[in-house]
Amino acid sequence: MLADFIWEIINLVEEKADEKAKQKIYLVGGAVRDFLIGHEIIDYDLLCEKSALALAEFLQACNYAQIISIHEPFGTVKIELNSYQNIQLDLATTRTEIYKFPGALPIAQYPQSINIDLARRDFTINAIALELKSNKEFEIIDIFDGQADLKNKCLKVLHNLSYFEDPTRILRAIRFATRFNYKIGETDLQLITEALNKPEIQGLAEKIRGIRIGIEIKRLLELNNYLQAAQLMSELGVWTLLSRENLIINLNPAYLPLKFWQARLAYLLWNNEHLLNLLEILGFEKKIQKQISFMQNIIQQNSLNTPSIKLIKEINNLDLDFINLLFSLRPAWQNKFELLEKALPKIKPVELMEQGFSGIEINQKLESLFQENLKSLTQDLN
Ligand code: CTP
Repeated sequence: MLADFIWEIINLVEEKADEKAKQKIYLVGGAVRDFLIGHEIIDYDLLCEKSALALAEFLQACNYAQIISIHEPFGTVKIELNSYQNIQLDLATTRTEIYKFPGALPIAQYPQSINIDLARRDFTINAIALELKSNKEFEIIDIFDGQADLKNKCLKVLHNLSYFEDPTRILRAIRFATRFNYKIGETDLQLITEALNKPEIQGLAEKIRGIRIGIEIKRLLELNNYLQAAQLMSELGVWTLLSRENLIINLNPAYLPLKFWQARLAYLLWNNEHLLNLLEILGFEKKIQKQISFMQNIIQQNSLNTPSIKLIKEINNLDLDFINLLFSLRPAWQNKFELLEKALPKIKPVELMEQGFSGIEINQKLESLFQENLKSLTQDLN
């Protein structure tokens, strides 16, 4: 079932819109796919035959929605609905897209016919539109036979250059295949291999500082079964999108409990000397890069063998997922770390001040107490 607000918008346009705002409105993309297979719809993308901005301004004038942002080059507008909490909708104008080079942000031309807009899309299953009519009626527009591919659970692009022009679609194919348990069509597997063998594509993220690729990697690694997706990426040789270097991937299922996609990616790529460089290219926040770099250092220097209070604090300051990652990478460290925590002195710095210690002496005293505690705990164990 489609949400009530969709029909409220259609009725408002039907009843009150002037010439400028009155137009055919379609539901497109993932929402149609999810509707047809009976999945919950998360994001509604509406497509306007003439002008998304005209529709947005009309809905604002009716006090039905607020315009949040306008993206002129693509003819898209984001709105928020007034009577529903936290519901934002993306409105787009029918467009075609031209790619100047692989991975480029396409240049859009709009408005176009609905069929031309559908033809710019990635997979047949994502290129179905519902023309929304009054009385909750709709007509399915499916010029690429996407419904048959939904039935056959098969991913197919619309034309032979699709993966080459927009290599993020290679990652999207893997994501949808993993998420829905669909297969990637035979021809598509071949098209993916052909695209990946083209020199323009290899290390694309490195070349264009791959934020678009980063977004798709993120979405892929947020899947529960991300290791399955990573495995498929390895089989198809897709890691080459990230780097021209031959990346070594860890695929040990023991690491499944990691929750954040950043920790998952760090784990998958842990053995690569280019890891930090890649994370920067993919647009990771500095805070995350710092944590990974810290972990690399302490593992390399085997720092738990020469522990200090500072080291324990720094490890405890890591996000939980990175602590889990650290102990997954060095399982023997978990017990060792628990022992180190037990050795932390119970006395508080203020109490040491009362005993006459000041400034740097306080930390020195705490550190020597820690080392003493550690010695006696280790002796107890032996
Ligand atoms: N699209 C495309 N090529 C891309 C990205 C998006 O053709 N590289 C089109 C597809 O028609 C897609 C729609 O834009 O269905 C919306 O894209 P997006 O929101 O990224 O994905 P959804 O298909 O909606 O899937 P999800 O449920 O994961 O959001």
